Amino acid sequence: MTEPSKKQRKPDPCSFVIFGVSGDLTHRLIIPALYNLAASDLLPDKFCVVGVARKGTTGDELRQSLLKGLRQFATRPVNDEIARHLLECVTSIEADPKQPPSFDAMRARLEKLEASRGIGGNRLFYLATPPTAFAPIARELARAGMLGEEGGAWRRLVIEKPFGTDLASAKALNGELLKLVNEHQIYRIDHYLGKETVQNILVLRFANGMFEPIWNRDHIDHMQITVDETIGVVGHRGSFYDATGALRDMVPNHLFQLLSLVAMEPPAKFDAHAVRSAKAEVLAAIQTQSEDEALRNSVRGQYQLGKVGETEIPDYRSTNDVRPDSTTETYVALKLTIDNWRWAGVPFYLRTGKALGIKRTEVAIKFKQAPFAMFRDTPVDRLSQNYLIIAIEPTEGITLQFNTKVPGPTVKIDGVEMKFRYKDYFKAEPTTGYETLIYDCMIGDNILFQRADSVEAGWQAVQPFLDAWSKAGAKGLQTYRAGSEGPSGADDLIARDGRTWRKLA
Ligand code: BG6
Repeated sequence: MTEPSKKQRKPDPCSFVIFGVSGDLTHRLIIPALYNLAASDLLPDKFCVVGVARKGTTGDELRQSLLKGLRQFATRPVNDEIARHLLECVTSIEADPKQPPSFDAMRARLEKLEASRGIGGNRLFYLATPPTAFAPIARELARAGMLGEEGGAWRRLVIEKPFGTDLASAKALNGELLKLVNEHQIYRIDHYLGKETVQNILVLRFANGMFEPIWNRDHIDHMQITVDETIGVVGHRGSFYDATGALRDMVPNHLFQLLSLVAMEPPAKFDAHAVRSAKAEVLAAIQTQSEDEALRNSVRGQYQLGKVGETEIPDYRSTNDVRPDSTTETYVALKLTIDNWRWAGVPFYLRTGKALGIKRTEVAIKFKQAPFAMFRDTPVDRLSQNYLIIAIEPTEGITLQFNTKVPGPTVKIDGVEMKFRYKDYFKAEPTTGYETLIYDCMIGDNILFQRADSVEAGWQAVQPFLDAWSKAGAKGLQTYRAGSEGPSGADDLIARDGRTWRKLA
């Protein structure tokens, strides 16, 4: 009899312990994702959700609050029976890292609960908390003996970006966690890897015979990675964002995930070690720039009053909890190069920003221009560009742009597009984007999670930009109108190399 594949099997029995259970991440994403897994029969048969809640929160109150969140954020109609079954296993526990005995009490309660449900000792600790709490919670869990895997049970720690705020703090956090647990026990989530189209980059590149032979500096002119958002900085995000900025918020994590997938070497195996090693290697090969080079190869901008569609967006500096003289960038464009045999000489242009005219996430691979000589004596005056576009949001799909002859007696050439859209081929239920990630944490597959060396390689590549900008202060910070395509300097950055950004559709 053949073994069921890893991806079809139900995870082992386990406790799913959530720190920060009263927060937004739990209500908006984790519980709706657990619900979707339950609806697909992909939760363990023996399972419990333990919410580490504020002092005095009863199990009933917690269940009520999670049910309310589920009704609000579920991605499909909620079936009462499935929701009841899921929430019935929710327990509320108190634990505060400032009060170490509370972790000893937590361990005792957890063991009792696991014994009563026949769960065994597998535990997943999901730290849905601000990042400053990661190390203190992990320290207490370890001290109270909840992270050791000695008895054969697995113990996993799930954390979500940001992993540090620069190279030094990322190293410190990794160092701290790795004193308490082994690397294989840490699941660092970058939610971009939960997106189907992002996962599909590997398949597109390595499950098709035609791309890999031309996926290199002989055939590719450059790549553009764009993550444009229409939303400005809103809600309670002002102080976080003002201390963070577009570069830290998006580049070493989300944009570098895209970059590493399109630029990595083919891994020998589709497994976590091989894939994560290939990703870490390519990130480590990003050329470290001097601060002068970093200034020359970057543009940062901040949005000012404007309109996105019909919505008026105020000046970034007038956002709640943002300093009125803030020099934090809400837009960044960078030029990077990767110093290896595959990519030497091929620029990677990255851009991302808030309050832009159109929401769009894509990787555009620009192939080298065909020689024009053959058409010199024809009416053709130019060839349009050959792009392969991996569209991630809002349309999920792949587009190939190529030249074709316009029907008629004379030689006329025009650029056309061949488009594949996910939704035309596959009928997938809408998801939160966390289902695969959470399921993989439970089955112990780290392939979609960031390893410490990748995180550090990402920070290493952006550190010169952070340093150079912090010294430059307001000097060099450009402005752009909300609803526009970003600061004009971004066009100059790429035009300097005789290239242009792909226009917003
Ligand atoms: C988050 C950033 O990690 O990603 C946000 O902190 C950003 O600022 C978000 O808006 C973008 O994610 P998505 O999935 O909407 O592209």
